[in-house]
Amino acid sequence: MSLPAVVPAPSSIESGSSGPFAVSAGIRITGDVDAATALAALLEARTGVTLQVADEGEVALRIEAGEPESYRLTVDDAGVAVVGADAAGLFYGIQTLGQLVRRAGGEWTVPAVTITDRPRFAYRGVMLDVARHFQPVETVKAYIDRAAGLKINALHLHLSDDQGWRIQLASRPELTELASGSSIGGDPGGYYTTDDYREIVAYAASRHLIVVPEIDMPGHTHAVGVAYPELAEPPVMSDEIERVIAEFGGGVPTPGELYQGLAVGFSSLKIDDERTYEFVADVFGELARLTPGPYLHVGGDESLGTDPDDFAVFMERVTGIVADLGKTPIAWHEAGSAPGLDPGTIGQYWGYTTPLDGMDDQARAFVANGSRLILSPADAVYLDMKYDESTALGLAWANGPTSVEAAYSWEPSDIIAGIDESDILGVEAPLWTETVRDLSDIDALAFPRLAAAAEAAWSPATGTSELRTWTSFRERVGALAPLWTSLGIGFHASTEIPWVVE
Ligand code: ACM
Repeated sequence: MSLPAVVPAPSSIESGSSGPFAVSAGIRITGDVDAATALAALLEARTGVTLQVADEGEVALRIEAGEPESYRLTVDDAGVAVVGADAAGLFYGIQTLGQLVRRAGGEWTVPAVTITDRPRFAYRGVMLDVARHFQPVETVKAYIDRAAGLKINALHLHLSDDQGWRIQLASRPELTELASGSSIGGDPGGYYTTDDYREIVAYAASRHLIVVPEIDMPGHTHAVGVAYPELAEPPVMSDEIERVIAEFGGGVPTPGELYQGLAVGFSSLKIDDERTYEFVADVFGELARLTPGPYLHVGGDESLGTDPDDFAVFMERVTGIVADLGKTPIAWHEAGSAPGLDPGTIGQYWGYTTPLDGMDDQARAFVANGSRLILSPADAVYLDMKYDESTALGLAWANGPTSVEAAYSWEPSDIIAGIDESDILGVEAPLWTETVRDLSDIDALAFPRLAAAAEAAWSPATGTSELRTWTSFRERVGALAPLWTSLGIGFHASTEIPWVVE
């Protein structure tokens, strides 16, 4: 008999010898109250059965110190025990339990099983681009819930780009007053008030995610120039930018006007003007105070409108400003070309699974500097790529469309030669929103491929576990369909996956 389906694949799973545990209205959950409440809500969504939280019960939840984020789950016909090493571990054990519940002959049951589980990487992220298409707080919360169910622990918010600035800052009110009013294609804009941002941070924390705010600089800054013209260089055009405008529309970027197209690489902050660094200090100073997590993302990608020497000067100064605020900077891999980056700066690699054009050299520079990498290979974990040529949503620039199999079939330690396991902080799956308007678009692109990225981030390395194969993954992810449906996740019913119908 095959093992029960869990995604991301756990470190160890063994079927038990007893019959399954029956989930019915008389069952009580006992132990850690936050965890018990979360489990009751998850089981009610999945089964419609309301379980009581009580002083004693058949489903016992507790914390016993151990490796961070790890848990042990045991199920037999008499009861269920979830033991987390900390609150996050207990939460992850509950997510696993939620995946195990199934309907059999009119009854809800959980198969007898013993699972011990812990994460491979400390950083397991999703990125949501709220600049190209603004996403309201409720959508961000829904995405947090979805990601947390797959044991993701970081939400990177791409809060600014050429098309808009999405976070209100008391020190720089013009950013949202003047540069947040639209999205790509003239769709509605918007921004988070500081209270909205605090609400997102608190909601994420309640699901054991940190928030990593990104302000992308020195390129991707046309919107900054709409608010503060004195900080921005005029747009630098290229044949590639003309091609993108011809293919996707949106017009030519014009100083002082919000940009509604898809082109990249035309904008730059002024590098030699001290007012730029006053701006950077204000923005990151305020974000540092609003953000309890350790990281501030400074961007640094596709600064094609910035002279390379100026780019190096800028990235050195910006990463230094962030480090002086007591935060760890993260930058996209291009910043690895700047020799004087703050040494703690974490690099985020977004090249392909087979690196091109020296992107691996730029990534390796962060490690040579004494820091680590987050891996986001675009042809595997960029969730905004089309699945195939017929997918209505999404783009295809990252080596063509990304099938679910392509999203799954890569190994983090094989991407950048010369990088050890310990040089990898983690894996993050970005979702850029050029074509993404709302939660149903997010769902259709992120599910099921986010599950593949989560497995790369959480599960044992490929080759070290019989579960870490495409054949196993497609069966296991297919078994999640009824759970995802009960949670309202509008996943893409890819024909690559044998979806279970309950
Ligand atoms: C990126 O995709 N420009 C980070």
